[in-house]
Amino acid sequence: MITLNEFIIEKQHDFPEANGELSSLLGSIVLASKIVNREINKAGLVDIIGSTGIENVQGEQQQKMDLFANDVFKRALAARGEVCGIASEEDDQYVVFDNKSGANNKYVVLMDPLDGSSNIDVNVSVGTIFSIYRRVSQRGDPTALEDFLQKGNQQIAAGYVVYGSSSMLVYTTGNGTHGFTCDPSLGEFYLSHESIKIPESGYIYSINEGNYLMFPAGIKKYIKYCQEIDNKTNRPYTSRYIGSLVADLHRNMLKGGIYMYPSTSNYPKGKLRLLYECNPMAMIIEQAFGSATDGKTRILDLKPTTLHQRVPFICGSTKMVEFLQTMLS
Ligand code: AHG
Ligand code: MN
Ligand code: MN
Repeated sequence: MITLNEFIIEKQHDFPEANGELSSLLGSIVLASKIVNREINKAGLVDIIGSTGIENVQGEQQQKMDLFANDVFKRALAARGEVCGIASEEDDQYVVFDNKSGANNKYVVLMDPLDGSSNIDVNVSVGTIFSIYRRVSQRGDPTALEDFLQKGNQQIAAGYVVYGSSSMLVYTTGNGTHGFTCDPSLGEFYLSHESIKIPESGYIYSINEGNYLMFPAGIKKYIKYCQEIDNKTNRPYTSRYIGSLVADLHRNMLKGGIYMYPSTSNYPKGKLRLLYECNPMAMIIEQAFGSATDGKTRILDLKPTTLHQRVPFICGSTKMVEFLQTMLS
């Protein structure tokens, strides 16, 4: 049995220039996720579910657990000395650690502290997504917007935690995607899924089909393809959609499938956030030999222009993603 901590330390030599800082940073994220997990498990018993009545910068209702998770992750990261700034889906602006040691730190973290938070009231899986970059501004200078607006292909690590029937942490530092399952009696994550490989093709498609009439023509055509009867290609495919990106992608990564959140007339640029959701998930899926695109361009090659930017997102088994792309052109 290898613990997450042991695994991170064992892989430390992948980053000789990091002097263990990246391991320590990942340690902060693990600690925060354990605290969030503990609180989520109390949902229904104590007053932590439901909305705060406040909207975030993106016009979405903040849930009490969104704010709790945001606060826990920020405090855990601020307490240790690796991070010079954080950008979160729940905050209008990025947060800078501008004291003397903070300004000298090398890394920025971008995060969706609680993904799928509207599912928490009904005991359905939610998650946390994180993304780590090396700053591009000079150490010692104030952290700048350019540190956060880097292309996804510059990520040095990305991961998610899924708080599901069991809790799992999945992460990559660019050397494969690895999964760890929490033993709740010990509060410890153990390596359970080393070097995950998504099947090249699968039989699951995941999309909010309630928006069907608002989808681009190519997406509608692909959905009809998924629904056709053809024994040779195992169609119709199975439709699965939870409404928690983390849980939907986790399932498709393990079983094979495709996830789509395309542009709609409500969300002309799609709904998902490039920096907090799509980039980290794209790196994780690519490191598991899958693909992620906005329909034209590889997600990891997009140049972000704003912190809360949204993009259409298509992600999953490579052959399925490639085939869908032929219908979009
Ligand atoms: P968040 O809870 O962080 O705002 O994310 C919700 C996202 C994502 O998790 C999910 O896949 C998607 O929104 C669901 O959107 P629809 O309800 O429009 O399908
Ligand atoms: Mn989200
Ligand atoms: Mn969220």
